[in-house]
Amino acid sequence: MVQGAPNKNTELTEDWLQNYVDDWVRFYLRHTENGEVASYIPELQRANKLDLGISIVGINGVKIKSGTVDVPFTIQSISKVFTFITACMERGISYVLDRIDVEPTGEAFNSIMHLEMRQVKKPFNPYVNAGAITVASLLEGKTSDEKLNPLLNLFGRMLGYRPKINEEVYRSECDTSIRNRAIGYYLLEMDFLESELELTLDTYFKQCSIEIQLDDLAVMGMVLANDGEDPKTGTEIIPRQIARLAKSLMLTCGMYDASGKFAAYVGIPAKSGVSGGIIALAPPRIRNEYLPFLDGCGIGVYGPALDKQGNSIAGIRLLRHIATQWDLSIF
Ligand code: DON
Repeated sequence: MVQGAPNKNTELTEDWLQNYVDDWVRFYLRHTENGEVASYIPELQRANKLDLGISIVGINGVKIKSGTVDVPFTIQSISKVFTFITACMERGISYVLDRIDVEPTGEAFNSIMHLEMRQVKKPFNPYVNAGAITVASLLEGKTSDEKLNPLLNLFGRMLGYRPKINEEVYRSECDTSIRNRAIGYYLLEMDFLESELELTLDTYFKQCSIEIQLDDLAVMGMVLANDGEDPKTGTEIIPRQIARLAKSLMLTCGMYDASGKFAAYVGIPAKSGVSGGIIALAPPRIRNEYLPFLDGCGIGVYGPALDKQGNSIAGIRLLRHIATQWDLSIF
């Protein structure tokens, strides 16, 4: 097993951190062979299943990255965290939570069954498809572009550039949307949607098709770790209460029906997407002074080979190792 837990004699230089992270990425690369790239959206199948990369950005400005770090990919379900944040910023937290609950489902991300069987009054949470499609219906705007404009502006404030929609993935999402349409029609029947169905679904397909890079996930995670504030300028990008709510749901609902295991074994808020991305973050912590990233950090992982739940198979293992070695768990 690879090692890398610092001790009190360790000088935590960037070189020291970089060497270990490089070793860990090399070690966990072998797990990519045991997963499969998402194939239900044909465009996603073009990804290289042997890719694995990580980017870590500390609130203190330290940056470490390793492995495949320069392949653009679509944000997919990680967008759900940020559309939820945008809806809360536009409508207020209580308005949104009156319409979407905060409970994990224990079911697959695109399950319909639990909605009907449990006769719910609102979708379970904003990070499964039923909840995220409902969130898309709450966003203000008469077209999907209008609805997504504030989301792209939010990304712009965090990243310093406005990401674009990947048109091929967007078309592919639309063309293979039978399950999401089924969910949409059920939500419509239950009167959960606040916008017209086609507009809502189009917004959801577009938000999943926003193209980003690995560093972007780390920066966005770092802003969340810092409770929504840009650490360089002290500017509020996301109101603190909304950032905290979004993070708490990442912990309980962010990794689909593997959220419980991820909380138990990794212990940090995270959200995954079927393109193989994971956004994770470690809040500031007060512990032994020789641990890295004590001020908190954002972590982006990219590894398109997925496990059965749809999470990056090697990415989860890599995160678990890092969280253990650096004692990142919030518990
Ligand atoms: O809904 C879908 O099929 C995708 N566009 C998003 C899927 C994803 O990343 C998994 N979601 N939790």
